[in-house]
Amino acid sequence: MPVSIKSAREIALMREAGRILARVHEELGAALKPGMSTLDIDRLGEKLIRGYECVPSFKNYNGYPASICVSVNEEVVHGIPSKHRILQDGDIVSLDAGVIYRGYHSDAARTHAVGNATPEAQKLIEVTRESFFQGIKYAKAGNHLNDISSAIQAYAESFGYGVVRDLVGHGIGTHLHEEPEVPNFAQKRHGIKLMPGMTLAIEPMINIGTPDVLWMDDDWTVVTEDDSLSAHYENTVLITDGEPEILSL
Ligand code: MF3
Ligand code: CO
Repeated sequence: MPVSIKSAREIALMREAGRILARVHEELGAALKPGMSTLDIDRLGEKLIRGYECVPSFKNYNGYPASICVSVNEEVVHGIPSKHRILQDGDIVSLDAGVIYRGYHSDAARTHAVGNATPEAQKLIEVTRESFFQGIKYAKAGNHLNDISSAIQAYAESFGYGVVRDLVGHGIGTHLHEEPEVPNFAQKRHGIKLMPGMTLAIEPMINIGTPDVLWMDDDWTVVTEDDSLSAHYENTVLITDGEPEILSL
């Protein structure tokens, strides 16, 4: 499948999907507090998503059992919500959510500090977020995909952090995962040339320690191999004739 170029009608629907997802994330971020279980977050997220007449795209995706991926501390992504996992003051928690609005997907992730996190943890969260913005400086028609990937890596590594290699961003539209893959690290190839109407989920996953990750026995939860903290930040982005449009912000 070639990389799809969305029509004006499709872009309008993806804008609405993104706008709703941004609100879901704001509401989830505001609700986070010590003592909540990660399942409480999932339940609230699913209720919010359905309340906006959307479908949670992660639920049952390849067997994933929840609507929100909740990944705490050394968990990188795809943590499975559980009533037994209680958020503690000082945890950092990555929330990844996807919605489908009238057939169109939006995908976004945020990492939050619960209560009072250490300065080291707060810096990781902020650098991970900023690495996304460094990357999308290059998200312009005529540039190549690798321009985005390289910029994210260079920024994160300038702080000594490890950029996860085993998971990547992706095209998005009528499906959660479309072509192309969007790595957060430099490729030898330039990658595709960016064109107006492409929609990409750009999602740096950054570890305080090494880039290496492991999969837990639940077959979903990805953790850092060295147990260092990890953060995730993602938005659905539209390539235009000018500046990129961040649909999920
Ligand atoms: N944002 C993630 C992604 O891009 C989450 C999907 S995993 C799921 O792939 F299984 F939970 F859907
Ligand atoms: Co994604």
